[in-house]
Amino acid sequence: MPRIANLYFRTAIVFLVLGISIGLHMSISGNHAVTGAHAHANLLGWVTMAIFGGYHALNPQKAARRLAAIQYAVYTFGVAVLVPSLYLMLSGNAAMEPVVAIASLIAFAGVLLFAVIIFSREEPATAAVSPAH
Ligand code: HEM
Repeated sequence: MPRIANLYFRTAIVFLVLGISIGLHMSISGNHAVTGAHAHANLLGWVTMAIFGGYHALNPQKAARRLAAIQYAVYTFGVAVLVPSLYLMLSGNAAMEPVVAIASLIAFAGVLLFAVIIFSREEPATAAVSPAH
């Protein structure tokens, strides 16, 4: 598996553990105020990152590009800031709102970069064909 695909799956499972932990905590406490943080950890974290990782696993040529590493860094940073700041905001810390807003825009930039990766052309395989004599 390409390095970036493996990295995406490792990051995704961390978000699933975090997302389910928040879900269990909400269920046990009966306080569902942080549903948004739970849903975004699971969907932007686990689900979307696993799809990004799956795409790279199927496209090793694109996975090896510098853009793939830049996209991973931007998207992961955005989601990693968004989930805890959204959790704090929904827990009553209104000062977190600008952090949530900026992190959301960074995560969106990561999604746009992934769109560039999807629409970019795959370079033709450089097969070493020896000329016929
Ligand atoms: C053991 C695992 C899980 C537990 C205990 C759990 C628990 C919860 C709880 C308590 C709520 C709040 C419900 C409400 O207030 O209406 C919720 C909402 C939600 N959960 Fe989970 N959850 C789990 C796994 C997941 C997973 C894996 C996903 C997605 C991949 C997910 C996505 C969502 C979404 C999108 C909502 C918001 C639903 C809405 O507002 O209508 N959950 N969950």
